[in-house]
Amino acid sequence: MGFLKNWAARPARSVKLIDIDFSKPWWSIFSAQKGKIAAITASILVYELLDTLQPIFIGWVLTSQNYMFVVLLVVPYLIDEVGSWFIVRPLVTQLHAQTMDSFRYSACKTILAIDPEFHSQQSSGVTLGKIRRTTDAYFRFIKKVLDDLVPLTIVLTIAMASVFMFNTMLGIVIAVALVVLGGLFSYLFVFATQGVESEVNRADDVANHVGTEVITRIQFIRASFAVDQMDRQLEASHLSAMRSSTTFFMTYRLLRGFLVFFFTLCLGFILAFLIKLVRSGELSTVNALSIILMILRSAHPLLKLDKYVTETVSAYRKIQDFYAYIRGYGKQTYPVFVNEQGSELSSQTCQTDPITLTVEHASASYAQEAPLLQDISLQISVTRQEPNKLYGIIGPSGIGKTTFISLLGGQLKPSVGHVLVNGCDIYQINDSQRQRLIALQGQIATNVFGSLKYNVTFGLPENHVYSDDEIIQLLESVGLWYLFKDKGGLATMIGEGGLTLSGGQRQRLNFANLFLRAQVYKPSIILIDEPTSSLDEVSEQRITEMISQLAERSLTLVIAHRLKTLEDAHKILDFCLINQTNRLVFYEPDELRKRSLYYQKLIQGNAILEE
Ligand SMILES: Nc1ncnc2c1ncn2[C@@H]1O[C@H](COP(=O)(O)OP(=O)(O)O)[C@@H](O)[C@H]1O
Ligand SMILES: [Mg+2]
Repeated sequence: MGFLKNWAARPARSVKLIDIDFSKPWWSIFSAQKGKIAAITASILVYELLDTLQPIFIGWVLTSQNYMFVVLLVVPYLIDEVGSWFIVRPLVTQLHAQTMDSFRYSACKTILAIDPEFHSQQSSGVTLGKIRRTTDAYFRFIKKVLDDLVPLTIVLTIAMASVFMFNTMLGIVIAVALVVLGGLFSYLFVFATQGVESEVNRADDVANHVGTEVITRIQFIRASFAVDQMDRQLEASHLSAMRSSTTFFMTYRLLRGFLVFFFTLCLGFILAFLIKLVRSGELSTVNALSIILMILRSAHPLLKLDKYVTETVSAYRKIQDFYAYIRGYGKQTYPVFVNEQGSELSSQTCQTDPITLTVEHASASYAQEAPLLQDISLQISVTRQEPNKLYGIIGPSGIGKTTFISLLGGQLKPSVGHVLVNGCDIYQINDSQRQRLIALQGQIATNVFGSLKYNVTFGLPENHVYSDDEIIQLLESVGLWYLFKDKGGLATMIGEGGLTLSGGQRQRLNFANLFLRAQVYKPSIILIDEPTSSLDEVSEQRITEMISQLAERSLTLVIAHRLKTLEDAHKILDFCLINQTNRLVFYEPDELRKRSLYYQKLIQGNAILEE
C-alpha cells in the first residue's frame, strides 16, 4: 500500500513550474509540454487502435479458425494497460498539475508585478475570480481534449480506414456520414455557444466585482444601504446572463435532437448498404457483423459530441477571456519577484559607513502614463555616528511625494536611471536583500485580518521570536495597548468579528510594525509616508519621538504635511523646488526658509493653527 501511495505521488514531485509569458498565445504553455503531450497521444493511438479493431480481430479468429490470433487481442491489450498505469496516467497527472500550477503561479506573479495601487480592491476580486476560473478551465480543456476529443477522432479515423480495407464504397459512405455528424455538428455547437460564454463570464466578473465593492463601500462610507444598489447591479447582469443561457440551452437541445436523429439515420443507411453488400456476395456475413460491431462501438461516443464540443469551447473561451484581461491590464511597474534568485549579495556587502542614498537621472511613470518624475538626481551621505539622520520631505498633495518614495523603496522601478543604497542598485537585488536595506511605511493605513500580535509582526520573519513583553512595550509606546489589555491582549482579533480600529489607530499599528521591522532588519534607510496624518497632537508627539529614535540608527526620510512631525529634521526637501532643478536637494531648515515659498507658507499656516 505504501509503495502504491509513493508511486502515485511520484509524478507530482517531478513537476516543474513553467513561467508563462502572457503576451504569447494561450496555448504556449502546451508547447512547453510537447514531449508529454506527444507521449500521451501516442499511447491513446495504440490503445484505441487495439480497442477499435477488436471486433475485426475476432472476425479473423472466427474465419481463419486460427486461435493464435487471440494473442492479438490479449497481449497488446495487457501491455497497454500496464503502460497506461506506469507511464500514461503519471504523465496526464503531471500535465494537469504542471499546467494548473504554472498558470496560477504565473498569473499571480504577473499581477503582483503590477503596482498594487493600480488595481483597486474591486478589480482584485475580479482578478482573483478570473485566476480561479481559468485554472479550472485549463484543467477541463486538457481533460476534454485528451479524454474525449482526441480518442474520438482517433477511433473514428481508425474505424473508417479499416472499413476501406473491406470495401471502398462502404468506406466512402461512412466517411461522408462522419463528416456530416462530426464536422458539421461540431461547428454548429461551437456556433451556438458563441454568445453565452462571454455573458456568463461577464456575470461572474460582475458578481466578484460587486462582492468586493460592497465590502469597500461599507468600509468607506459605513453604509449598508449601498448594498441596495449593488443588488440591482447583480440582478441586471445575472438576468442578462440567464437570458443568454436559456436561449443557448433551447438551441442546444434542438441541435442535440438533430444530432441523434442524424446518427440513427446514418446507422440505418450504413446497415442497408452492408445488407446489400452481403446479398451481392461482396462481403462475408462474418465481416459484415464485425463491421457493424465496430461501428456501434466506435461511433457511440458521437452521441456525446455536443457535450465534448461545448465543454471544450467553454474552457477555451474562459482561457481567452483571461488573456484578453491580463493584456489590457497595464504594464509591469512593480518589481516583486524580479531577480528572485538575483545576485545573492552577502548581508554585509551593502552595510557601508557612511550610509548613502543616490538617485541617478531616474525617470518613473505609472502604467501607460507620461513620466511623473523625470531625470531626477539625489545624493545623501551620512555617517552612522551622526546622531540625527532625520530628513523631511514636504510638498503639496499630488505633486509626487509618494511616487518618489516608492522609487526609493523598491516599489516603482525607474524606466531610466538608478537608485542606489550604499552603492547597491536596489532593483538589482532580491526582495529579502532589499528588506535588509530599506524599511517602508506606506501612506495608506491598513490592518490585516488576524490577531493583534499577527498585525504587529506582519511581514516579519516567521522564525524570529518576538517576546510578548517586547510587543506590549511597543504598543504602549504608540499608545495602543490600553485598547487591548482588558480585552484579549495580544490575541485580540482585529477587523472582521474583532476590534475595529480607527484610522489613527491603524496608522499607529502600522508604525509599530515598522518600528519592529527596523529592530529586526536594522535597515540603512527607513522611508515613512505621512505617518501622522490622522493623529491627534498627543499621538503625533509620541510617534515623532519614536521616529527620531529610528533616525539615530538609520537614514530616515519622512514625508509630512505638518511641520510638527519634522521639528527635529536635520534637513528638509521641498518637492516644489523640483521644477527649478532636476537635482533634489535637502536643505537645513534655516536655509530652506530662504529658498522655499511653500515652506514659508507652511510655517505661517502652522503658526496660525497654533495660535
Ligand atoms: N498607482 C498609480 N497609478 C497611476 N497614477 C498614480 C498612481 N499613484 C499616484 N498617481 C498619480 O501620480 C501623481 C502623484 O501622486 P503621489 O505621488 O501620490 O502624490 P503625493 O504623495 O505628493 O500626494 C498624482 O497625480 C496621482 O494621480
Ligand atoms: Mg502621498
